[in-house]
Amino acid sequence: MTRRKLAAGNWKMNGTSANLAELDALAKAHPTPGCDILICPPATLIARAAQAVPDQIAIGGQDCHQNETGAHTGDISAQMLLDAGASHVILGHSERREDHEESDADVRSKVVAALAAGLKVVVCVGESLTEREANNTLDIIGGQMAGSIPDVVTGENLVVAYEPIWAIGTGKVPTLDQIGDVHDFIRARLERRFGVGVGRSTRILYGGSVKPSNATEIFAVSNVDGALVGGASLKASDFSPIIAALESA
Ligand code: PGA
Repeated sequence: MTRRKLAAGNWKMNGTSANLAELDALAKAHPTPGCDILICPPATLIARAAQAVPDQIAIGGQDCHQNETGAHTGDISAQMLLDAGASHVILGHSERREDHEESDADVRSKVVAALAAGLKVVVCVGESLTEREANNTLDIIGGQMAGSIPDVVTGENLVVAYEPIWAIGTGKVPTLDQIGDVHDFIRARLERRFGVGVGRSTRILYGGSVKPSNATEIFAVSNVDGALVGGASLKASDFSPIIAALESA
């Protein structure tokens, strides 16, 4: 089974109109990319980003509400993301789980809403440093997967991102063996729950302090199908070499 690799950028709460030039530079650097490229800018830029980029770059949201419409001031529905030009949405990022107290059940209902709207989802899971030091990593990941991923997913509309919380924005990265162990575990869990077809076609991304300098070795790890990149996705000059590393992985 060959899975098309995915380089995904999460701009978080960074970027105004001026940063759209980075997308332009990225598109020019990768006219016919050898992997999928996804950029998730802040919601305020989604419509303009989607209009500005050519087809080889997909645009995604960073969260959505579980309801289609209604009295939810400040929230954005999956349909609205789709209407603005997004094709994907990141759900269950650890910053959402922490800052907005999102539970696995919350994430699951958002995933259901996003899939019903026709979006593809990038579901994030990952352990804290305390959980890793207590040797609970796989239990935590297994629990988050069971709780956050609904039954209705396919290998085409689901991407799982393994993001150890302690590696996000810190410059710390797990060892390659640690990354491989978690990715192999996620693959096995997907196959067990959804069957071999879905389990083997779902992409599993690593996220947490991915940089041009460590991308090549991370992409060589088994069951790493790409990366979810925060800080190093903001500038085309940083993200482009990461894409190139994935293309040649
Ligand atoms: P980082 O963030 O690459 O800045 O560590 C990754 C993420 O949170 O998706």
